[in-house]
Amino acid sequence: MSLPISTARLVLRPLRRTDLAAFLSYRSDPEVARYQSWEDISRAAATAFLRAQAKPSLSAPGVWQQIGIARVSTDQLIGDIGLLLREDGRSAEMGFTVAREHQGIGLAREALTGLFGVLLSRQTLERLDAVIDARNVRALRLVERLGFELRSSAEVLFKGAPCTEHTLTLSRAAWAASQAVAAHARGGRA
Ligand SMILES: CC(C)(COP(=O)(O)OP(=O)(O)OC[C@H]1O[C@@H](n2cnc3c(N)ncnc32)[C@H](O)[C@@H]1OP(=O)(O)O)[C@@H](O)C(=O)NCCC(=O)NCCS
Repeated sequence: MSLPISTARLVLRPLRRTDLAAFLSYRSDPEVARYQSWEDISRAAATAFLRAQAKPSLSAPGVWQQIGIARVSTDQLIGDIGLLLREDGRSAEMGFTVAREHQGIGLAREALTGLFGVLLSRQTLERLDAVIDARNVRALRLVERLGFELRSSAEVLFKGAPCTEHTLTLSRAAWAASQAVAAHARGGRA
């Protein structure tokens, strides 16, 4: 199981040195960083990050892997997905980012749908988790549309301010059910 993964408008692929300008641009956007663990990024740090993440694996546990999201027509990087496969081999955590100018047209949903289709077809992987700030309404709406359900909430300090952090989970069974509903809505032309 490996990259690239293609969808109608996107290709999920390794990050590359040539992605530097696009990567720096959205990682330096305060709106995009607001609910992320990171904050801005220097050119040197971005270069090192792209180099370190040049060969992500969809099967190596215990290390965050970063997967690039690019437009299929131009190969332009528009965001990325972080994926942590846990050592138990049965669960994973993920985070996701789409540059502001590419939001609101369903590309985040399309990228995650493409990735989940591959990940959750594995017989061993039973669930995916996402940890999302309660104020991050767009991210919550996105994962709920994908079938994630609230599992727990915690009061935490985030970037110096108290906030509520939700953990949402997508089980393999819920994913299969949501895909069946989507196929039905398309008139069975899955
Ligand atoms: C969270 C985030 C990825 C969501 O991006 P997004 O583009 O809004 O997400 P989607 O792909 O689900 O797009 C949904 C919107 O596109 C619209 N849309 C337009 N065409 C569409 C299509 N063909 N298919 C699906 N949705 C479509 C939907 O109606 C929806 O609009 P709405 O938000 O007004 O209801 C983005 O806001 C982001 O990167 N935020 C910063 C990083 C972050 O906080 N990440 C989460 C922490 S892990």
